[in-house]
Amino acid sequence: MPKIAITGKGGVGKTTLAALLAHIYAEAGQPVIAIDADPAASLAYALGIPDEVANQITPIAKMDDLIFERTGARPGESGGFFTINPRVDDIPDRFSVLHRGIRMLQLGTIGSGGAGCICPESAILKSLVTHVLMFRNEVMILDMEAGVEHLGRATAGGVDAFLIVVEPGRRSINTAHNIRQLAADIGIKRCFVVGNKVRSETDQEYIRSSLSPDLPVIGFLSANQRAVEADMRGEAVFDVVPELIEEARQIAAAFEEVE
Ligand SMILES: Nc1ncnc2c1ncn2[C@@H]1O[C@H](COP(=O)(O)OP(=O)(O)OP(=O)(O)O)[C@@H](O)[C@H]1O
Ligand SMILES: [Mg+2]
Repeated sequence: MPKIAITGKGGVGKTTLAALLAHIYAEAGQPVIAIDADPAASLAYALGIPDEVANQITPIAKMDDLIFERTGARPGESGGFFTINPRVDDIPDRFSVLHRGIRMLQLGTIGSGGAGCICPESAILKSLVTHVLMFRNEVMILDMEAGVEHLGRATAGGVDAFLIVVEPGRRSINTAHNIRQLAADIGIKRCFVVGNKVRSETDQEYIRSSLSPDLPVIGFLSANQRAVEADMRGEAVFDVVPELIEEARQIAAAFEEVE
C-alpha cells in the first residue's frame, strides 16, 4: 500500500493530484486515507465533500480537549510536561470523514515554533501520521502545505516517496530542487516529479530538461480549464475532468513501477 506525500510550490496542483490519486485507488477497491496536512485546508473540496460536511470538520490540531486528554497538555502550552507518544489509534476512524470510499483527515496547524517545534499538537500529529504509516493497511495520500518550511516538522518523515508537483515555470522547478534537498535531510530517498498544467510537448520537455537527474518525472497532467471550474464550484475534480483521471492513472501506474 503506497504512502505518498504530495508537495510543491503554492498553487501548482498538489491538492488536485492528491484528490485524483485518492479517487483512483478508492475506485480500484483499495482502502484510502487522504490526509490534508495543509493549514489552509482544501482537500475536502477537491474530493467533492459537500460544504455542509466540510465546514463541520475540526482539524485534529484544534481539538484541544482531545490533545489534553492524550498528551496531558493543551495546544499552545510548551515547556511543561506532556506525552510525546500519545495514544492515537482511534483517531483516524473517529475523526475522519468517509466520502465515496476515501477517508479524509484534516490535521490543521501546528503553532509557531518553526521546524522541530515540540508542542502537544505536534506530538499528536506526528504520532498520528506515524500510526497511519505503520499500522493502517491503507493507501495514504498526504496533501502537504506549499513550499518547504513545513518539512522539518517531520509529519512526512516516514513516507515511501515524495511526489513533487511542478508546472512549466522556473519557480516551481526551483522549489522542487529545494524540496529534494530537504527530503534528503529528513531521510526521504525517493522523490518523483509530476508536471502539471502542461499545454504541449514543449512544456513537457521544458520540465524534463530543467530538473536535475535525481528528480525523475513520472508523469504529466494536462492544463484543463475545467479543473479550475471544478475548484471554483467546489466539485470533485475527478467528477468534472475525466481526462485528468486517465492521466493520473498513468502516474499511479508509473509510481507502482518504480516502487
Ligand atoms: N491540470 C490543471 N489544469 C488547470 N488548472 C489546474 C490544474 N491542476 C490544478 N489546477 C488549478 O490550479 C489551482 C491550484 O490547484 P491546487 O489547489 O490543486 O494547487 P495546490 O498546489 O494544492 O495549491 P496550494 O499551494 O494553495 O495548496 C486550482 O484553481 C486548480 O483548479
Ligand atoms: Mg493545496
